[in-house]
Amino acid sequence: MKISPSILAADLLDLKSILKGLDSRVDFIHLDVMDGHFVPQLSFGERVAELVKSHTDIPLDVHLMVDQPEIEVPKYYKLKPHNITFHIEATNFPVRLAREIRDQGIIPGIVLNPGTPVSRIEPIIDEIGLILIMSVEPGFYGQKFLELAYDKIREARALAGDRPILIEGDGGINQNNIKSLADAGVQMAVVGAACFGGPESPAERVGLLKKAAQG
Ligand code: DX5
Ligand code: ZN
Repeated sequence: MKISPSILAADLLDLKSILKGLDSRVDFIHLDVMDGHFVPQLSFGERVAELVKSHTDIPLDVHLMVDQPEIEVPKYYKLKPHNITFHIEATNFPVRLAREIRDQGIIPGIVLNPGTPVSRIEPIIDEIGLILIMSVEPGFYGQKFLELAYDKIREARALAGDRPILIEGDGGINQNNIKSLADAGVQMAVVGAACFGGPESPAERVGLLKKAAQG
């Protein structure tokens, strides 16, 4: 299981030292970009993402919770992230956008809110390299995990079949559910509240989560 800590749950004013404390146990850094429209909350944008990039070599996992992602996505190309994921609910042009992202050498990912069925991405499955299943409604870290995500993860895994498509889970993931998520097919887990703010360092938490994922 790869772990992608969401810095939304970290003390953003202490980001530099938090990034310095991460090590090779941390596979990705999850960046939750919120525009105040697609979700009512505002978080941060490409400027903060650029600063994160300048302080770490850990690959970036960009999660855009924004309307009209076709306008926002290109702002993140220069960061050369591992993947850029946008919500299927937010655009009428997912194929064009996914192809544009892939042309940049970046993995295009599609995110599904809890209320959006996996069948929604069936027609465009060959265009994408990652499916992100939300297990909370987007907007906040620290929410309770929605069990409905398990079936959707299994469905997404089955739909992906032999294609090189990563399955990512996001929302309410912790030590107690990470093994079940791994069993359902999650290869990349976003972890916010369960990674930051505890007695252990975020890197230690990531190590413990990986161990828990193996059971
Ligand atoms: C929710 C974000 C998540 C969130 C995860 O809108 O997309 O990435 O920060 O945080 P936890 O793990 O606390 O739910
Ligand atoms: Zn996220």
